[in-house]
Amino acid sequence: MKFTVKSEKPATVKTGCVVLGVYERRKLSEAASLFDKSTRGLLTSLLKGGDMDGKCGQTLILHHPRGAKCERVLLIGCGKQSEFNDTRYRNAVASAAAAVNRSGASDAVSYLPGLEAGGRDTYWKVRQLAEVSTRVLYKPDQLKSKKDKTSRPLRRLAVNVDSSDTDIALKALNHGQAIAAGIQLARMLGDLPGNICTPRYLAEQARELGKTCKQLKVSVLDEAAMKKLGMGALLSVARGSEEPARLITLEYRGGNPDDRPVALVGKGVTFDSGGISIKPSPAMDEMKYDMCGAASVLGTLKACVDMELPINVVGVIPATENLPGGNASKPGDIVTSLSGQTIEVLNTDAEGRLILCDALSYSEKFNPEVVVDIATLTGACVIALGSHAAGLLSNDDELAGELLRAGTAAADRAWHMPLWEEYQEQLDSNFADMANIGGREAGTITAACFLSRFAGNYHWAHLDIAGVAWKQGKEKGATGRPVGLLTQFLLDRCGSDC
Ligand code: BES
Ligand code: MN
Ligand code: ZN
Repeated sequence: MKFTVKSEKPATVKTGCVVLGVYERRKLSEAASLFDKSTRGLLTSLLKGGDMDGKCGQTLILHHPRGAKCERVLLIGCGKQSEFNDTRYRNAVASAAAAVNRSGASDAVSYLPGLEAGGRDTYWKVRQLAEVSTRVLYKPDQLKSKKDKTSRPLRRLAVNVDSSDTDIALKALNHGQAIAAGIQLARMLGDLPGNICTPRYLAEQARELGKTCKQLKVSVLDEAAMKKLGMGALLSVARGSEEPARLITLEYRGGNPDDRPVALVGKGVTFDSGGISIKPSPAMDEMKYDMCGAASVLGTLKACVDMELPINVVGVIPATENLPGGNASKPGDIVTSLSGQTIEVLNTDAEGRLILCDALSYSEKFNPEVVVDIATLTGACVIALGSHAAGLLSNDDELAGELLRAGTAAADRAWHMPLWEEYQEQLDSNFADMANIGGREAGTITAACFLSRFAGNYHWAHLDIAGVAWKQGKEKGATGRPVGLLTQFLLDRCGSDC
């Protein structure tokens, strides 16, 4: 989709479709009202006739409105004006994108950014429009032999803003499209099945990304190289698989050469069967999504490249399968991590932390200023927070605050959970330095406690994305979260430079 900026009156703009907001009880938005005046009360009379009330989610299309230059007008119900806010704005934009795409119009001009939405500025509204519209039009049909194509899909979408806001809108579209492309990459990788998206496939994707930008350096370690380094925890997870593990690093150097980078560490378990501590079969297919942390790292780096952010970012992706096999790790096995600490593997299904701990130790070589790891780490997080917020745990409250604010700004929220000392003893083991599980209580927190022991000399935060990385049910599919949060976090760190 191509996005552009316009600054024209709704009745005189030439386009396949003009998109206007209408509030509940038939209250016209400013742009709709302007359109109404130029068309001699066309909208007013239509609404009076009962065709639409303006409730949330309602849409109505008129063809060849007399007195206007467009082929169609699409009215979007926005609900009560007093209750309209940023979330409803996103919903309105989503139903508009879906409806225009179905309408047969191949181009459209949206006046929705003119709506007052919980105090959000034009930059936010325009950027969200690009992100949300792209999200709505994505279909996970990569592997369908016959794709059900819309006969005339939407190809060009213009956002209408005041002429004084043109520059800011262009910047917002630029950012929005880059972020949308990052989200899309993360979704595509997440939705791919485990027989295609293997550790080697992820490495290949990273290399492809590296080819698009000379500031991005990609390197891949194989199992022999990891063994040499001493990554006993990571390799213990890969033992049950035929498919070999990989450690992928992507170094994006957009900032000053001596600026310490932000490191993003993403869990890349391309299929998690649980290993010898095997999972029950219902919904086990969803464990192809256990690499969504890795996918979000690739998506975020893609967005950095597309926006040419003046910042240094390193992505580290430990990638492996977790399968049972004659050579697989067994409950009770004790392994030695890269840090030298020993771990008693009491449950082979707590594998994410085993690969992340070695990746966290490995990240130190980049001398990072902060490290954020992203992982579909615990079912307990889904129970605690459901599918709306990622769990956030950190050894630094300031960093946690930055990430929380980024999540709120990007409509990709996280929620802070405690990482208190008191929880650490749940990981005690009689035989090794620690166990890899901490019992039934506070599973998300004890998983983070485990990781904290490997987050050496840097500020570190952990995002548990088990509840937010994909959707179940009719709309089953990867969400691309938390690419939005992470790119916002990086944008904020660039300050006014971008
Ligand atoms: N990948 C899973 C976590 C998960 C489960 C994410 C369900 C989303 C939905 C992780 O590797 C895992 O299996 N965690 C175990 C940890 C337990 C053995 C301490 C869990 O959450 O059950
Ligand atoms: Mn597991
Ligand atoms: Zn897992």
